[in-house]
Amino acid sequence: MTTRLAPGGEDLLDELVRYRRHFHQHPELSLQEHATAGFIERELHAFGYDSLRTGVGKTGILATLVGGRTGPVTLLRADMDALPIEELNDAPYRSRNAGVMHACGHDGHMAILLTAARVLRERATDIAGTVVFCFQPGEEGYAGNKLMIEDGALENPHVDRTVALHLYSGLDAGRIGVRDGPFFASSDRFEIDLAGKGGHGAMPQSAVDPVVGAAYLVTLLQSIVSREVAPQQPAVVTVGALQAGTTFNVIPERAALQGTVRAFDAAVRQQLPERIERVVAGLAEAMRLEYRFQYHFVYPPTVNDAAVNGVVREVAREVVGAQDVVDPHDTVMWSEDMSFMQEQRPGAYFLVGSRGHRQGGTPQHSAHFDIDERALGVGLDMMVGVALHG
Ligand code: NI
Repeated sequence: MTTRLAPGGEDLLDELVRYRRHFHQHPELSLQEHATAGFIERELHAFGYDSLRTGVGKTGILATLVGGRTGPVTLLRADMDALPIEELNDAPYRSRNAGVMHACGHDGHMAILLTAARVLRERATDIAGTVVFCFQPGEEGYAGNKLMIEDGALENPHVDRTVALHLYSGLDAGRIGVRDGPFFASSDRFEIDLAGKGGHGAMPQSAVDPVVGAAYLVTLLQSIVSREVAPQQPAVVTVGALQAGTTFNVIPERAALQGTVRAFDAAVRQQLPERIERVVAGLAEAMRLEYRFQYHFVYPPTVNDAAVNGVVREVAREVVGAQDVVDPHDTVMWSEDMSFMQEQRPGAYFLVGSRGHRQGGTPQHSAHFDIDERALGVGLDMMVGVALHG
């Protein structure tokens, strides 16, 4: 793998691997990345970054580097948190923290960004504009990105654009996945409570049965995506939890449903709560039930800006060659909290293939997840390349 844009070649790959394995051995859960943040801080100081912003959004770190040429302020982001998974790999660098594992590749993201901070500092005069290195906590469902924005991460300096990457086991090492427009889905959730009137299972005429109502509701909700959303617009309504009753011969008082809703298009996303509630209200009316409906907007869709994505695509062609810059059509309904920054600033999010011959074919969030570490060199070249491109 090349590390073409960064001086040092193989040495840098060694350093990337060393950092990645250090982070892999010492994973920490979301918003508890204290040792991780401490390590990154010490390294950044050693590289000569003296005015760091720390504790941003709990444990986040921001380091700013002013380049020698004029250009935009670009925020490069790496996420820092691991998952509550017991690692089942027996590699020498396996997790030393019981029940916690870097099973999503964030260890690699930190290694890439930290090494980029070192390389770019040595080449500051070549940088067009200013680079903000953003080490973000709590990506795995804790909206650490939003916490960092609330702590002012997009100001002082005023960030003009953002760039983030994710290692991806669905793509071969040496390939880069770039796609314009919506990239990852929104992720929202709902809770529905249906209240009826409990009674004897043998005397339904004197009860109002929430179980039958809940059963109809699960199937009725499926008609929203299939009948009300255009087939070209991906969306998902999943009822993941359904609770009612305690035994076989009693009609219970209530039934409770919880679900997740995903969409790529912001307008589709905004319409879904109304549509869901309309179905719930109609069903409740028809079945003589009372209902309570709660909807939580959690993560917006991650939408790529055409201009910033254009820079990413250009750099990707230099790094791996045009034939290995692909559109990841199989992009799953992942959600990603970088969406918050990309809602406020034009941004680009891309995938760096991490699947190798021996390693890296296991899906993200699996207890066997690992990467082909050559992918780290590609990620480094990308981040350095974007910063130098301006
Ligand atoms: Ni991840």
